[in-house]
Amino acid sequence: MNIIWNKTSGQFHLYNDRISYIMGIAVNGELTNLYFGKRIHDKENMSYVIFRTAMPNVLVDPDTESYSMELNRQEYPSFGTTDFGMHAFEAETPNGSAVSTFVYKSHMICQGKKGIEGLPATYADKEEAMTLDIELEDEEARMSLVLSYTVFRDYPVIARHAAFKYHGNEKVRLKRALSCCLDLPDQEYEWIQFSGAWARERIPSVRKLGSGIVSVESRRGVSSANHNPFVIIKRPDTNESQGEAIGFSFVYSGNFIAAAEGGSFGRLRVLMGIHPDRFCFKLSGGESFETPEVIMAYTDGGLNDLSRSYHRLYNNNLVRGRWKNEPRPILNNNWEATFMDFTEERILKIASKAKEAGVELFVLDDGWFGERNDDFAGLGDWVENTDKLPQGMAGLSRKINAMGLKFGFWIEPEMVNPDSNLYRRHPDWVLSSPGRKPSLGRHQLVLDFSRKEVVDHIYNMLYKVIDGAMISYIKWDMNRSLSEVYSQTAESEEQGGVYHRYVLGMYSLYERLIAAFPDILFESCSSGGNRFDAGMLYYAPQAWCSDNTDAIDRIRIQYGTSYGYPIVSVGSHVSAVPNQQTGRSVSIETRANVAYFGTFGYELDLNELNEEEFEKVREQIRFMKKYRSLIQFGDFYRLRSPFETDQAAWIVVSEDKNTALLGFYCLRANVNMLPGFLKLSGLDPDRLYMMENEKYYGDELMNMGVAISRFYKKGFTIAEDHTSFVTVIEAIDQGI
Ligand code: GLA
Repeated sequence: MNIIWNKTSGQFHLYNDRISYIMGIAVNGELTNLYFGKRIHDKENMSYVIFRTAMPNVLVDPDTESYSMELNRQEYPSFGTTDFGMHAFEAETPNGSAVSTFVYKSHMICQGKKGIEGLPATYADKEEAMTLDIELEDEEARMSLVLSYTVFRDYPVIARHAAFKYHGNEKVRLKRALSCCLDLPDQEYEWIQFSGAWARERIPSVRKLGSGIVSVESRRGVSSANHNPFVIIKRPDTNESQGEAIGFSFVYSGNFIAAAEGGSFGRLRVLMGIHPDRFCFKLSGGESFETPEVIMAYTDGGLNDLSRSYHRLYNNNLVRGRWKNEPRPILNNNWEATFMDFTEERILKIASKAKEAGVELFVLDDGWFGERNDDFAGLGDWVENTDKLPQGMAGLSRKINAMGLKFGFWIEPEMVNPDSNLYRRHPDWVLSSPGRKPSLGRHQLVLDFSRKEVVDHIYNMLYKVIDGAMISYIKWDMNRSLSEVYSQTAESEEQGGVYHRYVLGMYSLYERLIAAFPDILFESCSSGGNRFDAGMLYYAPQAWCSDNTDAIDRIRIQYGTSYGYPIVSVGSHVSAVPNQQTGRSVSIETRANVAYFGTFGYELDLNELNEEEFEKVREQIRFMKKYRSLIQFGDFYRLRSPFETDQAAWIVVSEDKNTALLGFYCLRANVNMLPGFLKLSGLDPDRLYMMENEKYYGDELMNMGVAISRFYKKGFTIAEDHTSFVTVIEAIDQGI
């Protein structure tokens, strides 16, 4: 890993063993991108990459007649001169002009990586990364801009963000401030996005890029289930195991845009950042604005390799604290078992059975506070409902801990029901536009987290509940999108900052609770997977992946999620059948075979299982305890896509390639068809492995594949819909 500054050419080269990122200073002083891809040798001067011939019909910067911005690759394209493409930022000066030219002023190279004030970001110590800060200035606008780039020693990724500062005596309005732009020299790419809606989150879809704009966006105030802030561009022939691809992952949890623009002359531009709609930050003299970070990852080894780079980076350099790289407790949550209708006695009964099964953590979901007996009332009143919990959270947590279980509970701190004491006392604490009725979502309004006093109040209430009790875990929910986004106390010129300040307020509450209770494991949730993004992982190392707990749907949701997020971050539980969301009944084996590939737990009352099923649950828990480190932190490979076939398969392999766990799922049986072969990945080709009492070479399993029919004989009934198997593959040292 290194960052080289070639003084004579004014070019920067960031590289590690796998990637090179090269940029230079163009003739107009702005930064130009020269290369991002597989590692290449450093060369003093690569100016030949800059296209210097004026082509007909293309405007040219008048001072440097042969240089056209539109024909070249911009590093952080500005608005208003001759680029004409989508721009990365827009700063309106006091005279109303938004034309900008930020020219190179200085740069700094340092070891390690700095954090971003108030925002989540990847971190690295001095040996792990190097950072280049390039300072640019626009004298006319009296503004400076710092573009930061971090190259990591161990991952083929570049982390980027930008910081603006105004130095004048008046005010500028920053109306767009994206986090990154990557201009590429051709458009032979496909675009993969991860879209869906509630209960069908992060479904990958692929389309061809070309001339024009393709984008995914959220204007909901949360990153959203509708479009995830993670996209991939890949070469048309790239598949899971080979070929070039570049990922863009936004470390942020609010409104976003990710766009690819094919220009008229062959250039492809990819942009990512906070959505510019209704974004306007006013900067007075001396004030600055820092964007969130984008992680760009490159591979020439296929999509599985790209995913593993994100998995490792996020596990090692984004997730923090006590739970970083720690196997996660197997939990039992009461939500689908009781909803809000419970007594302490019922909860203790569920917990005691969970303990008997081997569960490690019991989670009390919604309904424990205020007048919360249905979803019409109580949100905002974070005080125990003593009809349900006679000795409060403290009493219940002591009883559960005494059983030998850890204990945790559910909160939804960003919300309030109109029918709550909090709303009656502070009706102006919600986001709502003057003179208009605020829209309700799940009968609730959104608290104005852009206001410090609101966040302080919620913090104090939660602190009291947690402090008096024995709490190991918190599920932090967020059940509606933001609407009527207007802060009732902010000046009119501050209103364009409310969406972002809301996110900062939410992050600050997390930060304070983490600081006060560093051992608590936070699981983020937003009606399931409505806010599953890299930003949240900085605070909450795991996320409830989807409210859809149907095993068959979950195969797709978890498969899609694995492209951008580590397996250990995927909250996945076995729930009761018929499934609450789909009405489908799937065997307890298949439900567990899917839920193993995540954090694992149960979303049901185990008392309601028959003896045979309960025994199976005990066995499942024993199995998960044995293999969870491998599953949660091993190398994960997608093998067969449920989006392209009627089957799905994945495998996790230990780093030393000694042990692997294969999951195979039949979503729909193909009658009267040969079962075929499944090619595995990640094993050592030269080693001998044992699987289901049969010996195989690694290369045999990876190149010829496993004959699926073998599993029929071993008692697996995978000839039927919704059947599955999970099997252990262990390296053995003796020969055949
Ligand atoms: C959301 C969550 C569920 C559950 C309920 C409680 O829908 O996604 O898991 O916690 O809220 O109200």
